[in-house]
Amino acid sequence: MDERLAVAAVGALSATRKAMHLYPPAHPKYRETVDDLVTSLGACVIDEPFTLNAHLGRLYHESQVLSSDAPGMRSMTEAFEAHRIESLTFQSDLSEHDAVTLVEVLGLRPSASLDIAEELERRGVSSIAVCAFIDEEAEEAEERDRVREQDRALYRRLLGVLRTLTARIQQTGDPQVGDAGIIVEGILARLMDDSAAVLGLATMGGQSESRLFHSINTMIYALTLGAALGIPEEGLTSLGVAALLHDIGKVAFDEDDPEQADAVHFLHPKVGADILSRLPEQDRAPMLVAYEHHMAADGSGFPEREADYVTHPYSRMVAIADRYDRLTTPENGDLALTPDQAVIQLLRDTLGLLDQTLTRLFVKALGVFPVGCVVRLTDHSVGVVCAPGEDPLLPRVRLMYDSDGLEDASGREIETAESGRSIVEIVSPDNLAVTVSDHL
Ligand SMILES: [Fe+2]
Ligand SMILES: [Fe+2]
Repeated sequence: MDERLAVAAVGALSATRKAMHLYPPAHPKYRETVDDLVTSLGACVIDEPFTLNAHLGRLYHESQVLSSDAPGMRSMTEAFEAHRIESLTFQSDLSEHDAVTLVEVLGLRPSASLDIAEELERRGVSSIAVCAFIDEEAEEAEERDRVREQDRALYRRLLGVLRTLTARIQQTGDPQVGDAGIIVEGILARLMDDSAAVLGLATMGGQSESRLFHSINTMIYALTLGAALGIPEEGLTSLGVAALLHDIGKVAFDEDDPEQADAVHFLHPKVGADILSRLPEQDRAPMLVAYEHHMAADGSGFPEREADYVTHPYSRMVAIADRYDRLTTPENGDLALTPDQAVIQLLRDTLGLLDQTLTRLFVKALGVFPVGCVVRLTDHSVGVVCAPGEDPLLPRVRLMYDSDGLEDASGREIETAESGRSIVEIVSPDNLAVTVSDHL
C-alpha cells in the first residue's frame, strides 16, 4: 500500500477530531470531514486490513515510518501515546459508525480506568482492533501520580498543623515550635529525595489562608536555598522553622482591617520577634529571622538599625525566599510574575535589597526554567516545567495542551531533550486560564 494513503488517513483522523470540537454533527463542514475520513480509511483497507503502529513517538504503517511533519501526524501520535495504544487495525468491513466512534473515543480524557479496546467494544465497534501498549512508562506514570497525591496530602496536613499552631499563638501568645519542627522535617525529607516535587508543591496557594500558604512556600524556598548551600540537616531544620514563622507577628493584627495594613507591614517583624523570644531554650534563629527579614542589604528596610548591624545569614536567605514567593504569588491582587520574571527581578534586587551571593545561588538552584513555568514547545503543545533536565534549557515538562490546543489531562510528562521538542516561549498561566498547581 502506498505510504501516502496511510498519511492521508492519519490526517483525516486528526481533522475529524478537530471538527468534532468545532462543529455540531449537522454542520456541512463536519459532514465533509467525516466523508473524507471514510474515503481515506476506505482506500487503506481495499486489499487487506490496515494497521497503524506507534513506536517511540512516531507512527508507522508496517515498517514504514510516517513523516512527522504531515498534517495531524503529531497530534495523532500524541493521542496514541496518551491512550497507550500500540496499534490500531482497521478491517476491510470498516464502517462510518466505527471510524467516527474511534475518533470520539480517542477524544476522551485518557485515564488509567479508560481501556480503549473495551470502550470501542461497548460502543459497538467491530471493525477496528486495538492493541494496548503495556509499558513501563505507564506504570511509572501511575507511581508518579501516587507519590504526587501523597505529597499534596502532606502539604495539606502541614497546612492543618500550621493553622492550629498559628491559632494557638494568636490566642495564648505561646509558641509551641515543636509542631513547626514536624512540618519542616516532613518537607525536608521529601526535599532531599525529590526537590523538584517539593518546588512543585510551593506553587500551591489559596485566596483564603494566603498567609499560611505563604509561610509554607517561603519555608520550601528557604530550604531549597539552604540545601544548595550545603547546610547540614540540623541547621536546615532551624532555618525551616525560622522561615515558617517569619511573618508570625502578623497574627497580632486584624487581617481584614485595611486601616491596620501599614501597621501590619512595618510592625510585624518586632511583634514576631517578641513572640518568638518567649520560646524556651530554643535556638535564636526564628526570633532573629522574624526581626530581620525585611532588613535590606543596603541598610534600608525595617526595623531601623545601626549602620554596622549585621543580619543573620538565615534572615538573608528567608528574605530571598519571601521575596520570590511574594513576586510569584502577590498579595492584594497585584499582578503575579511568572517564575522566570521573578528570577530576573530577584537578580535586580541584588542591587541593594538582597544578598547577592545567596540570591545567585538560589537562582541557580531554581534553574533557567524554574518548576512552575508554563512553556510553549516547538510543536505548539503547552506544559508546565515539573523538573529540571540535564540540559538547563531542556527541562522535564508535564503536558497541559497538545499540539492542536486540546486539553491533555493525562498528566503525561516528557523530557524535552528526548522528544525532539524545545521551548519556544514562556506563557502566562493567566492567559491560558490554568492553575499551575493543579498540574504539578
Ligand atoms: Fe514579613
Ligand atoms: Fe513574608
